[in-house]
Amino acid sequence: MKRIRLSFLGLGVVGSQLMEYIRDRLDGTVFGGAGISVHKVFVRDVTKKRWIDISGLTLTSNPYDAIRDADIVVECMGGSGTELTRDLLLAAVREHKSVIMSSKKCLALYGRELVHAAEECGTSLCYDATVGGGIPISAVLASMGKCETTTRIYGICNATSNLILSEMSGGAGYEAALRRAQALGYAENDPSEDVDGLDALYKAVILMGFGMGHWADCGSIKPLSIRNLTAADLRKAGKEAYVIKPVFSVERQGEEFSCFIGPRPVPTDSILAPVKGNNNIIVIRGSESGDRAFYGQGAGAKPTASAMFDDLIRTLLEMRAPCRL
Ligand code: HSE
Repeated sequence: MKRIRLSFLGLGVVGSQLMEYIRDRLDGTVFGGAGISVHKVFVRDVTKKRWIDISGLTLTSNPYDAIRDADIVVECMGGSGTELTRDLLLAAVREHKSVIMSSKKCLALYGRELVHAAEECGTSLCYDATVGGGIPISAVLASMGKCETTTRIYGICNATSNLILSEMSGGAGYEAALRRAQALGYAENDPSEDVDGLDALYKAVILMGFGMGHWADCGSIKPLSIRNLTAADLRKAGKEAYVIKPVFSVERQGEEFSCFIGPRPVPTDSILAPVKGNNNIIVIRGSESGDRAFYGQGAGAKPTASAMFDDLIRTLLEMRAPCRL
């Protein structure tokens, strides 16, 4: 039977979970007369012990080898090596591979270039896992805004900071709450990316790029940290009917764009106030419809890999005809 070949770039927590979903859900499935197979997996260390069964996989330490004979390239490189990730994705796109990506930092920094290259080469670039975990936000952005102008996108898009502030509001200390976010697998390898607002900045830039067509320069935005907030600050806000949330907001006024990332007091009756733990909320304001809100788990291997799996199905349905014999 004809085969559609997937290659993975990276096999960390999210990549491994996605591999499990593919094994469980796509084994024996046929798309447009072709079966699906995992071709090669690029990993930095082929000898490393992994929590999934890798016996049937071909691991390679040469990423270009993984890209070469694939039809679909699935990027799960995580936050490190952003330039390498960019180079590999550009190489994949230029070889007319369909790409499914998860590295938000890479997309935020090089989104304009990657999107342009994909358009030029006529290939697809899916990115749902980069923002909002299990919230299917890329499909929402692709299907809206035809009739109206998106004027603001705001909400909460960093699960770690949200969990920390939620737990501190309940009396926990900052360090204990951060350790919990790390233990649950929500925090970045370097958690300062979460608490100092960089992770939210990358996501805000991606939402602005795809939702408003404007790719902001990440370096021009200065996020505020949640580090210096104390339990007393949170209690004080509570007494005044506010709750402090790690908020992002991107706005458009004509051809001017602005972005805010940082902790902010929001009224307890705001739509953002009840969003706790690892949940995210993304509110999209349109010139005709007003606010539309999308809510769900923003971090964790399962929701994030589920978003990538949906991207994979979308890609397979779009390809229909297989590329390889
Ligand atoms: N560190 C991120 C967060 C993971 O806490 O939201 C999901 O992108």
